[in-house]
Amino acid sequence: MKLNSCFKTLLIAAALTLPITALAAPAPIVIKFSHVVAQHTPKGQAADYFKKIAEERTKGRVKIEVYPNSQLYKDKEEMEALQLGAVQMLAPSLAKFAPLGVKEFEVFDLPYIFDNYQELHKVTQGPVGAKLLAKLEAKGIHGLAYWDNGFKVMSANKPLKMPADFKGQKMRIQSSKVLDAQMRSVGANPQVMAFSEVYQALQTGVVDGTENPPSNLYTQKMHEVQKYVTLSDHGYLGYAVIVNKKFWAGLPADIRTILEGAMKDATIYANDIAKKDNEEALAAVKKSGKSQFITLTPQERTAWKKAMDKAHKDNIGRIGSDLVQEVYKATGYSPN
Ligand code: LMR
Repeated sequence: MKLNSCFKTLLIAAALTLPITALAAPAPIVIKFSHVVAQHTPKGQAADYFKKIAEERTKGRVKIEVYPNSQLYKDKEEMEALQLGAVQMLAPSLAKFAPLGVKEFEVFDLPYIFDNYQELHKVTQGPVGAKLLAKLEAKGIHGLAYWDNGFKVMSANKPLKMPADFKGQKMRIQSSKVLDAQMRSVGANPQVMAFSEVYQALQTGVVDGTENPPSNLYTQKMHEVQKYVTLSDHGYLGYAVIVNKKFWAGLPADIRTILEGAMKDATIYANDIAKKDNEEALAAVKKSGKSQFITLTPQERTAWKKAMDKAHKDNIGRIGSDLVQEVYKATGYSPN
């Protein structure tokens, strides 16, 4: 009798626990996607879109956690975090890859090398773009895609019209030797600084000015602490979406295929919204009345281009002559 009731208790306990263990889904694979810009930017929106479609298509087997605005890591730390596996996915700007030892990415920073998105896409969506991504493998990184942002404006508290106007101006740049050379070519003093620190540095006068596409200028409120914005389109800023190579290779094959498809669609989305997003940001900056716009005359533009050509000459050796020539050929760049 005693044995019988003990058996019954065991049976009940088994009945209570069995369905739970039998039905419990395995814990989802978590992908932490860290980035430094605001949510309402081309990169921020594309990251959120990727999360949405990747989670839908993997039916709960993958969870993407997006951390915008340097919430988790700043520029330099996020690269280290990816290599260490503390985060799995990033989309750093192309200007931030040289410190990893992949200097070739600085080809994208050469001033005036792309006149428009079409010329840029010949590189990012062609063999040169693929070749560059492949160089990341040796660093433990797998490159998935290029996402557009846009063409940069130059901002300061004085009007920047001619190269001579830059003289002595402290200008914040990303960690790129080409951008350093670009600023020096017009007589400015470049200062490398993490993106998350730029607003405060402009506000307190640690730096006088900076460059960024309008979407970053606007969403970081930089225009509120910059009196002038020159609509120069003198260079391009965009991203490479990257993952920790070991993590990516270790994913179940079917999941990896679904994620690759989602990334393909998120890339189309990113590159579709980038131009419009920047136009809207520029219109919002204008509407705010906080900074005055400067449009360059053809002569002023030519003077910028001519001066900044030095950044090309000084860096061809660093980036690699063959690569630079290949990009010149694709985009039709010729110095003034
Ligand atoms: C910057 O540091 O200015 C940009 O790279 C930020 C970004 O990710 O767009």
